[in-house]
Amino acid sequence: AAPLRIALAGLGTVGGGVIRLLTANGALIARRAGRPIEIVAVSARDRARDRGVDLSPYQWEDDLALLAGRPDVDVVVELIGGSDGPALALARRTLGLGKGLVTANKAMIAHHGMELAGMSEAANDGRGAPLKFEAAVAGGIPVIKGLREGAAANALTRIYGILNGTCNYILSTMEDTGRDFGDVLKEAQALGYAEADPAFDIEGTDAAHKLAILAAIGFGAGVAFDQVEVEGITRIRAADIARADALGYVIRLIGMAECEEGGTRLFQRVQPCLVPRSHPLAAVDGATNAVVAEGNFSGRLLFQGAGAGDGPTASAVVADLIDIARGDTGPPFSVPVAELEQMAAADGATR
Ligand code: HSE
Repeated sequence: AAPLRIALAGLGTVGGGVIRLLTANGALIARRAGRPIEIVAVSARDRARDRGVDLSPYQWEDDLALLAGRPDVDVVVELIGGSDGPALALARRTLGLGKGLVTANKAMIAHHGMELAGMSEAANDGRGAPLKFEAAVAGGIPVIKGLREGAAANALTRIYGILNGTCNYILSTMEDTGRDFGDVLKEAQALGYAEADPAFDIEGTDAAHKLAILAAIGFGAGVAFDQVEVEGITRIRAADIARADALGYVIRLIGMAECEEGGTRLFQRVQPCLVPRSHPLAAVDGATNAVVAEGNFSGRLLFQGAGAGDGPTASAVVADLIDIARGDTGPPFSVPVAELEQMAAADGATR
């Protein structure tokens, strides 16, 4: 069968991971996808940088609009990052052309997910163009697929978890060593999990981006990032952790979304929480992420794994590409955006 031809925009940690993964597992991926997945073109800000991967087989394209427009590109993989700017322009351009988009960009989906999903559903005269973002939430953990497909038959009551590896690394290292915040933050940055601006991590914004996406998927709602209440971990001191420990608790930065009982109102918050040592989330150490979802038929589900890093995040990106290669054309969220808009209009009209 004809290969799925992709363009990679952004060649940082994750971009390199995608190239390595497609090279290492190409044959098994082609079998599972029913056709090969081939990188045809790449783009990044700095052409000269050594990324430890051989880029010579691919066409280089500096202009992102031209990259998306290439007739030999079926799907664009956006790994540039940032909620707006070049990433958003590329996303709009790609979907506007009726091509598929795979992105790891949580900030962009948290801020513009509804607009992009609307474009995705309307593309190709209503036949749609895939928009996928498994890698945007919890790196290698297939939690979007888990909620969108695996738990699709359930009414969920709560979704909560550890959504930022940097914060979890800081809190669990402070707990193990008694060291103070600033010191451990530097170490977390050196490990390469932190955002370019680590304020996004420690102030809870990154976890809030991911929570808003998970809540939309899990509760069949629109992404409402501006409604997430956010408190980060910058005020946690070693003494707080020691006191929690004496009482049988650990401190974790938890994102939680829950639906008001019987209602449609969604509550979303990110805040440092006391977690009893007996709870599964208390055992989640280091840069690991974990998400708990409670379904009315499935019971409590726990998703756990690496929430960042080149291999895990590339694994999620390529899983999305395999879905597209197989012909997955479902709506990007669990409910079509057109329907959410109708619901919102009806809701507004009755008030
Ligand atoms: N800065 C993020 C984290 C990277 O620490 O979890 C993965 O989204």
